[in-house]
Amino acid sequence: MAEFVPVPSFDLVVFGASGDLALRKLFPSLFHRFKDGQIPIDSRIVGVARQALTRDAFRKSVSDGFVNLAKGDASSPEFQAFLDLIDYVALDATRADGPWDLLVQSLAGGKDKVRVFYLSTPPSVFGGICAQLRDAGLVSPLSRVVLEKPLGRDLASAKAINDAVAEVFSEDRVYRIDHYLGKETVQNLLVLRFANALFEPVWSRAAIDHVQITVAETIGVGSRGDYYDKSGAMRDMVQNHLLQLLCLVAMEPPNSVDADAIRTEKIKVLQALVPIGPNDVAAHSVRGQYREGLVESEPVKGYLEELGPGRTSSTETYVALKAEIANWRWSGVPFYLRTGKRLPSRRSEIVVTFRPPPHSLFDQGGEPNQLVMRLQPDEGMEMWLQIKEPGPGGLRVKSVPLDLSYETAFTLRYPDAYERLLMDVVRGNLSLFMRKDEVEAAWAWVDQVIAAWDATSSHPHPYTAGSDGPLQAALLMDRDGRKWRDLI
Ligand code: NDP
Ligand code: BG6
Repeated sequence: MAEFVPVPSFDLVVFGASGDLALRKLFPSLFHRFKDGQIPIDSRIVGVARQALTRDAFRKSVSDGFVNLAKGDASSPEFQAFLDLIDYVALDATRADGPWDLLVQSLAGGKDKVRVFYLSTPPSVFGGICAQLRDAGLVSPLSRVVLEKPLGRDLASAKAINDAVAEVFSEDRVYRIDHYLGKETVQNLLVLRFANALFEPVWSRAAIDHVQITVAETIGVGSRGDYYDKSGAMRDMVQNHLLQLLCLVAMEPPNSVDADAIRTEKIKVLQALVPIGPNDVAAHSVRGQYREGLVESEPVKGYLEELGPGRTSSTETYVALKAEIANWRWSGVPFYLRTGKRLPSRRSEIVVTFRPPPHSLFDQGGEPNQLVMRLQPDEGMEMWLQIKEPGPGGLRVKSVPLDLSYETAFTLRYPDAYERLLMDVVRGNLSLFMRKDEVEAAWAWVDQVIAAWDATSSHPHPYTAGSDGPLQAALLMDRDGRKWRDLI
């Protein structure tokens, strides 16, 4: 059984409370923590958005969101008790005349409690919100701010946001969220690498041939088209989620699990990423954009039709990259990254492929060992080994996985990444959040790839929804004599 240690009583203000993320992920996650007894009953949650809503109408949207978006049951007494913690304040968070006094009233008497401001709004308003919070006298000694990703749309805008936020909150009170870091398998990657003596001796160019990191989604852009079209897969997924996964695979062992020890090691990896400039971009990257097709046997529209009638766009909904890390451990070991929407299955995994044995004794077999870490669905790990197929009639070698499915090994309900991260904010644990310099280093690398794309005036390759992505992505691997792991 999991043990849930209650956090101290807190006040949480969610800016952007009527948005997709808040209703689909944040409130459902808070409910689960409440239900498990982790959130004290005298905690308060205040939703903020510009739309004029009564408290009861807002509570109803939280409840509807739980049922329709998170597929939960809102009829339980626990859910009704959770709703009692929730208040709503309508204000324009970027304006001095908000009206902020309503939020001041809602948080009255809470100066000595942990106070969390969760900014689930477009990043362009993060700086303005922080300034207004300060001017309204709402930033107490125990206040902290959570910033949703993506932080800006390039290095310059990320720096501007970081600077504006830093005028109000010191770095130790800024929680830049990347929800992939809250996923169980991602945290387990640290434990796997650093709590087992087995892996470290083989975790380098000496034994590893290459690493693949895949985040494949079946969903399209849906109602988020306006945001997505200005962003694309590179800014939406690679800059944050995929590069964070790469860092955790590639980083040196930190000397403790202290937040800064871990983050300092991650940033060294980002700084060691080899730039992909105009001369390499064609050989090191592939962009795609989905066209109509069948996903999980259902017909779906193409990206442009999803955006709206008559729209054109050269935004990528798929990207594959060959990244290289210039340091002693990883020199010569490619890290292949790919992510896309409208792919045939929802699958996020990290695959570490080891070098083949130096000399093969057997006629058959010869598949390299692979360590597969599945983030979703069906979280778990597989270590693919070569074994002798049982039975007489020769020595047949076969590749078989040692399989650890978490669902089979542990019977607890699988928490959403936001549950862990929200409680970490209240506890003041920064380990799973990105530091300012880390986000900026990730943008610096991503910016030059995007600049190289712009310089070559190339366009994304079309791919049929439900396919594995553009053929060119398979060729990217094929040129190196390697192959992506199947998506189905
Ligand atoms: P939405 O567009 O669905 O929601 C935005 C929210 O912000 C609304 O509640 C809106 O309400 C509110 N808002 C906007 N401007 C202001 C303002 N000036 N003052 C007060 N409230 C304001 O966005 P999402 O929920 O999809 O995303 C929110 C953030 O989370 C973004 O930064 C996004 O990149 C990030 N994110 C989203 C994910 C998702 O799956 N949706 C995943 C990961 C990150 P109103 O218009 O009434 O003011
Ligand atoms: C978000 C992206 O950060 O991650 C979305 O903005 C994407 O476009 C989502 O769909 C994927 O998250 P998960 O946890 O469903 O893999």
